[in-house]
Order: sequence, then C-alpha cells, then structure tokens
Amino acid sequence: MERKTFYITTPIYYPSDKLHIGHTYCTVATDAFARYKRMRGYDVMFLTGTDEHGQKIEDKAKAKGVTPKQFVDDIVAGPRGILDLWKLMNISNDRFIRTTDDYHVEAIQKIFKKMYENGDIYKGKYKGMYCTPCESFWTESQLVDGKCPDCGREVHAAEEEAYFFRLSKYAGRVRELLTTTDFLEPKSRVNEMVNNFIDPGLEDLCVSRTSFTWGIPVDFDPGHVVYVWVDALFNYATALGYMNDRHHDFEKYWPADVHVVGKEIVRFHSIIWPAMLMSVDLPLPKKVFGHGWLVLNGEKMSKSRGNIVDPYLLAERYGVDALRFFLLRTFPFGSDGNFTNELLISTINTDLANDLGNLVSRTTAMVLKYFGGTLPARRESADPDGELEEMILALRDKYAAAMDAFAPQTALAEVFRLISRANKYIDETAPWVLAKDEANAARLAGVMAHLLEAIRVSAILLTPFMPDSCAKIFAQIGAEGDAVTWEAAGRFGALPEGAAVTKGETLFPRIDMAKELEELAKLEQAAAPAAPAPAPVTIDEFAKVKMTVCKVLACENVKKSEKLLKFTLDDGSGTPRQILSGIAKYYRAEDLVGKTLVAVTNLPPRKMMGQESNGMILSAEKDGKLTLLMLDDAIPAGAELC
Ligand code: MSP
Repeated sequence: MERKTFYITTPIYYPSDKLHIGHTYCTVATDAFARYKRMRGYDVMFLTGTDEHGQKIEDKAKAKGVTPKQFVDDIVAGPRGILDLWKLMNISNDRFIRTTDDYHVEAIQKIFKKMYENGDIYKGKYKGMYCTPCESFWTESQLVDGKCPDCGREVHAAEEEAYFFRLSKYAGRVRELLTTTDFLEPKSRVNEMVNNFIDPGLEDLCVSRTSFTWGIPVDFDPGHVVYVWVDALFNYATALGYMNDRHHDFEKYWPADVHVVGKEIVRFHSIIWPAMLMSVDLPLPKKVFGHGWLVLNGEKMSKSRGNIVDPYLLAERYGVDALRFFLLRTFPFGSDGNFTNELLISTINTDLANDLGNLVSRTTAMVLKYFGGTLPARRESADPDGELEEMILALRDKYAAAMDAFAPQTALAEVFRLISRANKYIDETAPWVLAKDEANAARLAGVMAHLLEAIRVSAILLTPFMPDSCAKIFAQIGAEGDAVTWEAAGRFGALPEGAAVTKGETLFPRIDMAKELEELAKLEQAAAPAAPAPAPVTIDEFAKVKMTVCKVLACENVKKSEKLLKFTLDDGSGTPRQILSGIAKYYRAEDLVGKTLVAVTNLPPRKMMGQESNGMILSAEKDGKLTLLMLDDAIPAGAELC
C-alpha cells in the first residue's frame, strides 16, 4: 500500500542578515512536526530555503561592495550561514530551495506569464507608500501612525509603472476560504485577516518593480522584475517541480498539508497565496499555521534593533537538543513568547537535568546495581503500578492530539507529566528498601520494568524534539528496533526481556544559574555592536547650555522617594534656586550643605514627586555609580562655566 504523504514547509528566509533565535524557533518547530509525521509512517516532504531577491538585499550588497549574489551566497552557504545553522540544529529538511536557483527563476517567469495571459495580471501605474525592509507597498489608509503596519518602520512615497494582480477579483472566494474552513489557524488570525484586510476592500496587488534590478525579470517586459512575494510564495510549488523539470514530485505532494509561518506573514499566505493559486488553477494548501513571535522584552528580535540572540552561541553552550526542547516546551506556539536567559536555563535544569535526566540516570543505575543491567523474567506487580501503566498507555493519544493541533508545548507537557509521575513512583516504591531483602527480587524487577517502560515511551515521543538525546536514552535502556517505534509507544511492555541497560554519559548537565547568567551577560556585551558615535554638536549648540556654579544652602531627602534629594542653592542671582536630584543613594543630605556644585540653570522647570525642580545638578557616571561634580569652594556662586 502506498504511504500517505505529508508536505510541510517553513517560510523561506531572507538572507539579509544572519539568522537569529526567532528564525530558529520557526524551523525547529516545523522540523519537530515533520519528524513526528515520519514517525507515524507518513512519506514526508519537508521544505525550507531562502528568499534571495528584493531591494533590501540589493541595497545591502551595494553597501558592502559585493554583488547581490555574492552577498546572499555568503549568508546562505558561507561559514555559520543558514545551511550550517540548520545542520547544527539537526533540521531534517528533505529539500532546500534558493529563489536564485535557475529552475525556480524560469518557473516564476512562466507562472507570471500564465497569469498575464489569463488576464489576472495587467499593466498600470503604482502610487503608494513603500516599506523597503518589508518590500511592501501600502496605501495611506493602511499605515499605522504613518509607518509600516507590519514592522513599524518609516515608509516613503513611491510611484512606478507596474503590473498588477487582480487580487480584488478573488476577495469573495478567499473570504469564504478563511471563514468557512480550517485553512487558517489559530482561529484568532482569521478575524484579523477578514477585519483588517478583506472587509475594508482588497485592492489589486502591485506585482512588478522597475526601481531596482535584483529580482526575476519579467521576460516579456524588460525593466520589470517580479515582486519578491510572488517569486517567494511560489517556491512551495516550484520546489516540487511545478513548471520546471528539476524536480518531479509535484503530483505526489501537492497540495501542501501545512505552511508553518510567523504571524507577520500570515497575510501573504492566507490572502495573496490562495488567490494566486486560484488564478493558476491549482488546488489550495490544506492549512496555514501562523505562529507567534519570540520576543525580547516585548519587542520582536531584529538586527536593526540590536536585540538578537545568537542560536550558535546558545546551541554550543547548552547543546542542540536542549535548545530545541526549550523553544517548543516553553511557549505556546500560536502566541508570542518572551525569551530570557533565565527561562532557558531554568527549563534545562528543571525539565531536562532534574526530571528527565534524573529519571534515566537513577533507573539505569538501579538496574545495574540490583540486576547487573538485565532484569530477571520473574516480575511482580503491586500498587501503584496500575496508575503508572495507565498513564503510559494513555500518553500517545494525548500527545498525538496536541501534535496534530500544532501545539507542541501541550504535547511536551503531557510527556513531562508522565516523567514526573515516574519520578514520584520511585519515591513511593522505594526500590532501595526492596533491594535489602532477596525475597523482594521479583517485585523490585517489576518496579524497574515499569520505570524502563515509562522512559522508553517518553523517549519515543520526545524523539521529534531531541533526536540525538533520545537515541542515547534508547541505548542506555537497551531499547531498539520494534521497541522504539510509534506503534510501540502505544504499548506497555515492548522492551524485550533480555534488554541490557548500560551506564551512559550524563544527558543534561545541571547549569549553575548565577554563574551562567554572569557569563552570558559578558558574552552578549562583547558581541554587542559598538554604540554609534554620538552626533557632533556645534560650538553654538554647546554654548546654549548655561552651567552655573552654585553653593548648597540646604539639602534634604524628598518624602516617599528613595532616590531624590531636594537642594536649595545659591546661584548668585539673589533668589534661592530649588533643584531635585536623584542622588540620594550615593550621598547623605546633611553632608552636602555648604558644598560648591555645578548646575544646568536654563532648563525648563519640571515637577518631580509633586515638587518643582529648576535645573539639573551635574554629576559623573561610571558603571552605574554617580559622583557629584564638586568644585573648589573659592569659586563664587553665580560663576558661569565656559
Ligand atoms: N522571506 C519571507 C518569507 C517568504 S515565505 C514564502 C520572510 N523571511 S524572514 O526571514 O524574514 O522570516 C522567516 C520566518 O521567520 C517568518 O515566519 C518569521 O515570522 C520568522 N521569524 C522571524 N523572527 C521571528 C521571531 N522573533 N520569532 C518567531 N519567528 C520569527 O518573512
């Protein structure tokens, strides 16, 4: 019988910068789904790749003094590039497409022509606001606070002769697809698409550019290049052989079972993509799943914001499997998740070192100590074996339901419920007590068998997340062949009788949180881009700041404030000046009376803790510590710094 197929894709990545942990999140998740389906016997096609055209790449290459192709080659295939990263992260993609590959370029030209010939692409003039980083045109009404609604960056007015795709023609059919089927998930994203994009009126989409050249040329109209999103979206079809002879799996795998994409590109995948497929008369993908972002302090990671987290650094420090696991165990896939180093380390320590690692090392150590590594055939059951057995038997279905719903976090939570239960089972059955009396040998063997089964089934189900570590677990408990299949994850007692348990390396070493956080902070600081040099000021600008020598007449703490001191100053004008300064942590108020300080005296007054402050007392800061600038007492109040 022919195996059922499963075609799953990640977005193809922009090689405009090195990839960060957010991109890794998307790919690792898709990899876990692909491995899960393979384990279930599907004939899986897992596609990923790179989306290499567009103005952003042309601009970056120019700035670097290389050709766009040289630029992308380095980021895709160079050292520590995208291909290296996926290899390191143990990504099991079956195919990798680059949109600069010849076969894709030719196929896109044919597809574009096909849509032109069927009347869905026509020539017109484009006027609009363009966001260069997103390669997107926007109408004024779509902008948010005058900025790009996707990324929040500046847009600029642009006008050009261009080809348009009749997106408006497909609005009704796309709306129906989104509202009456499970095409787009999670469901919350459907409302967003319908309310924000479809119902306000879908305009025809500008699908060619003349303002730059780094794209696929429209072969029947030189000077135009195909809009990068048309080029990119069709990768899912060309990579299988649609409109080309390089590959021959289109019939076999199309339509895609799922496109896994980040939330900001759901619009392209759930509106534009189905409309274009309708235009060329191809069956629609079965699902688009829009996952959330990994954010840092609430902000999306991006090189330009300088808040990226390097997956190489994390994988090398903690291991690939620990990183893969952390990403999918911690954050619900459909929502945003806030990445912190603390969370990463505590997840590794709690789940992997304490719960899973300990379960495996305690169990294997006991089987070795009490039985020399092989359990005797005579085994006895007693409480609470039944409960553990039931949990083991029920786990596979719960896990499958979660994985089928693209909820890896829930699937992992189920596995870890069993792992905790098994650890508790060790405490309840107290094997070290049983071991004291030879008469308990059969019962002790029964306890060990239950533990080994809990480990075996957990490791099968954890394999899509941590393939290498689970292979090591199987080796340690002597599980192989039929005992480690999906089918065997639904059975109790699949471990063969003479299975030999061996002692292996520590799977997940515990991390010293405090020491590690300090180390990481140092590494991140060293890797951080140097702060941009401050913009120069002219001498005239500097001269606008009035700095006056002041004597402290009185100084006291501001009530209810730990930071503020209230100064009454003689600034030479005859009228005392009041300034509040956040220096209370470093000085006692009474020690400052009579001192000679410097204050900026032409700032507008401002209120702090309900009191007026007229200026700013100067201090010097180093490593977070403030020291007041104190002058020789011989300098009179009212003297100006110059
Ligand atoms: N080239 C387009 C995709 C074209 S698909 C036909 C693109 N590339 S991208 O490199 O910018 O992003 C690729 C994927 O990474 C997207 O799904 C995006 O959402 C995801 N992520 C980028 N940063 C992310 C986070 N910080 N968190 C989670 N996913 C993130 O878009």
